[in-house]
Amino acid sequence: MMVSQLAKTLKGSEIIKIGNEVNELKRRGEKIVNLTIGDFDPSIYPIPTPLKDGIIEQYRANQTNYPPADGVAVLRESVSELILERYQLDYFSNQVLVAGGSRPLIYSAYLALVDPGDKVVYTTPSWNNNHYCHLSSAHGMPVQTSAENNFMPTALDIKPHLKGATMLALCSPLNPSGTMFSKKDLEDICDLILEENESRGAHEKPLYLLYDQIYALLTFGTNKHYNPVTLRPEIKPYTIYIDGTSKCFAATGVRVGWGFGPDNIISKMRAILAHIGAWAPKAEQMATAKFLTQKDDLNTYLNSFKSKIQTSLDALYQGIQELKSAGFKVDAISPMGAIYLTVQVDYIGKTTPDGDLLKTSSDINFYLIKEAKVALVPFSAFGTDESVNWFRASVGACSLEDIVAMLPRLKSALLKLK
Ligand SMILES: Cc1ncc(COP(=O)(O)O)c(C=O)c1O
Repeated sequence: MMVSQLAKTLKGSEIIKIGNEVNELKRRGEKIVNLTIGDFDPSIYPIPTPLKDGIIEQYRANQTNYPPADGVAVLRESVSELILERYQLDYFSNQVLVAGGSRPLIYSAYLALVDPGDKVVYTTPSWNNNHYCHLSSAHGMPVQTSAENNFMPTALDIKPHLKGATMLALCSPLNPSGTMFSKKDLEDICDLILEENESRGAHEKPLYLLYDQIYALLTFGTNKHYNPVTLRPEIKPYTIYIDGTSKCFAATGVRVGWGFGPDNIISKMRAILAHIGAWAPKAEQMATAKFLTQKDDLNTYLNSFKSKIQTSLDALYQGIQELKSAGFKVDAISPMGAIYLTVQVDYIGKTTPDGDLLKTSSDINFYLIKEAKVALVPFSAFGTDESVNWFRASVGACSLEDIVAMLPRLKSALLKLK
């Protein structure tokens, strides 16, 4: 069958491939602790009850026709209030764009800003920027980060790549690492962007910053979420934010996301999305608008949700640290935000009981699925080299009990490696 070059060269999601392998084993009756998917088991992490009731109420009130292309006004107003209150970000409701989750917003930002062949700088590991570069025919420029800086980029990492770039894509708290920008690192990167833009002529496209903060409400302890425009107001004309309900309200299937930024860019993103039609359903938008203004309900939900996620992440972190203290070649970065733990399993070059050499992080992952009945995602699925022996563990789809029960299995699987 003849299809487009874009369709022919499209790569599937690595995470979904691992997920399929896990599901196949589950179908055969194996009990696997699935730490692969960035999603939630709704029986463990349901959406907020007032949001659920609100959605049902809106359907009863027949809110079932087309929503406006930029989202219902009440939701854009609620978002504008929320970001002012939480992050001191001052955006009018017409600078907010609502879509069916955050993905269409990211894609429309790429399409609105990036011409084919334009350079887009993103850091690895990171989520899906390689695919958005492909879809927009951008020249993707991955910049590798390191465990020493919690897999967050520094200005030094990024600086050599910004000349001539159209967009820099950043995310904090970061999928896959669950780590976050320090104030200083983000300030330094903002300064680089401002410097680069000062050096460009009036008729040149500026360097834009796509800032994905979809996990911003999921931060633990004293870790504080920083964002570019609060730190450096001068960067506002170049910054597009990505945000939404999917992760912070465990609402991945509700499909309500939003972005905000300068009106001239947001209006182009809206025009692109109007043709694609990737709107959030109207009833969900209306219910989200109301829920965001119910401050007590929202805070009560967030406190209990965060504490449950953090308990799971901490249990996994402690388990890995205990193995490390016992001499196993594993490590983990203390959880900071999102639903992810960054885990190192430093066993490349070892041989399995079946005599197979573990050559890559993927080999380690499939060995652990088989032997320890636990599935992680190697950072190579987020753009790093196969030799990077760090993995993402996502705790949203597993119970605390399952995580704790898995740790001895991990220990015995590692003991079998020679
Ligand atoms: C960093 C980041 N941004 C955006 C998304 C997409 O969110 P949504 O489900 O709202 O499209 C994800 C999903 O995993 C993500 O991790």
